[in-house]
Amino acid sequence: MKHYTSINDIDDINSWIEEIKEIKANPLKNIELGKNKTIGLLFFNSSLRTRLSTQKAALNLGMNPIVMNVSGDAWGIEFEDGTIMNGTTAEHIKEAAAVVSQYCDVIAVRAFPTLTDKEKDESEHVIKSFVKFASVPIISMESATEHPLQGLTDAITISENSTKKRPKVVLSWAPHVKALPHAVANSFVQAMQKMDVEFVIANPEGYNLNSEITKNTAILYNQEEAFKDADFVYTKNWSSYDEYGKVLNTDPNWMITKEKIGTAKFMHCLPVRRNVIVEDAVLDSDGSLVIEQANNRTFAAQLVLKKILENN
Ligand code: CP
Repeated sequence: MKHYTSINDIDDINSWIEEIKEIKANPLKNIELGKNKTIGLLFFNSSLRTRLSTQKAALNLGMNPIVMNVSGDAWGIEFEDGTIMNGTTAEHIKEAAAVVSQYCDVIAVRAFPTLTDKEKDESEHVIKSFVKFASVPIISMESATEHPLQGLTDAITISENSTKKRPKVVLSWAPHVKALPHAVANSFVQAMQKMDVEFVIANPEGYNLNSEITKNTAILYNQEEAFKDADFVYTKNWSSYDEYGKVLNTDPNWMITKEKIGTAKFMHCLPVRRNVIVEDAVLDSDGSLVIEQANNRTFAAQLVLKKILENN
């Protein structure tokens, strides 16, 4: 594996989960592996967990992390080929990626979608341009359509907390005031499809995710029916995919409540808007795994970095 930009880069999710558990039990075991190696974390968008957990993972491997908020702090980067650059962009990705490759042994990038230009977002032009023009491995810290570090984290969190051989996992849409990307939901779907779980998606009509990602996964428009006998309820808002980037529904009846999920464990990637996505009683209960999930971000990122350091 040279790059990690998708859940599809995982060859065997069960062996990756076991390796992450080993790392979690002894996080400093490979502190020499990344000695004198530098990772550059480039953020085109905001972050709390990804920013800190990926740095922590790098430090656990003895790497030197350097972090930059690209939007605002760096020159505006041009991604189109052949553009006459007489507008707002001042530096082409060809130079930017080549230059950063000289400073860093690994580059990690976060770049969200426009949610207005479906074709551009699905081309994954930012992350793919880094893969094309950088000479070092690239890690996605959330791209236009995928959040593979989060998806891997969610897989290990379910594995650690499951009391059944084949638990029932529900991905449920919940309302939100703003248009949000599909990346977290997409990567969660892809991760669950690789695991031995009974997996269903619950969302209102008009909110089906990309069918090329959901494939044969069952989609229910009735949340109550989906939650029946659920062991894990993973909640996320996403904007409409068919009416791309639009907010079609803010129905508070889709908010997650304690009464609805019963004894099922609650998961969310965070940040989460309390009493919009999920009521306080769920987040403040013993059944909430959200803090544990955020902790696992470090160990998922550490395994990805370890594999990249060992193979490049
Ligand atoms: N879950 C997640 O990616 O969190 P941040 O956006 O804070 O990094």
